[in-house]
Amino acid sequence: MNIRRATLDDVSTIVQIHLDAFKGFFLTSLGPQFLRFYYTCFIRSKETVTMVAEEDSVIYGFSASTKECKGFNSRLIKSNFFDFVILSLKMLFTTPQSLLRLVRNLTKKGEGVEDDEDYAELYSIGVSKIAQGRGVGKLLLAESEHVMKDEGVQKVSLTTDYDNNDQAVGFYHSMGYETLYEFVTYPNRKMYRLIKTL
Ligand SMILES: CC(C)(COP(=O)(O)OP(=O)(O)OC[C@H]1O[C@@H](n2cnc3c(N)ncnc32)[C@H](O)[C@@H]1OP(=O)(O)O)[C@@H](O)C(=O)NCCC(=O)NCCS
Repeated sequence: MNIRRATLDDVSTIVQIHLDAFKGFFLTSLGPQFLRFYYTCFIRSKETVTMVAEEDSVIYGFSASTKECKGFNSRLIKSNFFDFVILSLKMLFTTPQSLLRLVRNLTKKGEGVEDDEDYAELYSIGVSKIAQGRGVGKLLLAESEHVMKDEGVQKVSLTTDYDNNDQAVGFYHSMGYETLYEFVTYPNRKMYRLIKTL
């Protein structure tokens, strides 16, 4: 399995894997058009590390991280502002509830939690259903951490669901992530914030 940096040519495959691996998740509910925009922004940005796992020209998984969590969402939107406005207008007329949730998610904070956000953040990691449980996720995350460390990152954090999420939580624990705090986000969803020192 080869782990390499993603290119814009990989966006469609990343979106397919996202739809396959993250069924029922909030970002998935925003649809393929939003996901294409989202992962294109990630790959274009110089402050992200977006990787794919590939074997015999087939991509089985991807990860998307930013090297600096603090202020990342605003910077991503600012640098893709025109596309973001067009997408938001489309969502306003087709799925206004999703647009509202998107805005609330973009501005979310852990309630009652002090957090200086002085870390990199893993935004998503997904492996195709057919390839899960065979070590692809482990390879992807280890290589993403390796690249981030080489590029100056000391700590990586992520958020993940607290409830009914044994697979992802077990995966992160096996990779050395520990709980920084628990919090509740919109709309009343309990989450873990996990962290690892590289
Ligand atoms: C979570 C995910 C990325 C893990 O990738 P994967 O390729 O399936 O995981 P791996 O085969 O590399 O497993 C690595 C370790 O995770 C742990 N793990 C994997 N599945 C687990 C489960 N169901 N319960 C507990 N621990 C589990 C194990 O410790 C495993 O190590 P081991 O096989 O040496 O025991 C993948 O399953 C996935 O895409 N899930 C759906 C999307 C998701 O929830 N993403 C994370 C939230 S952002």
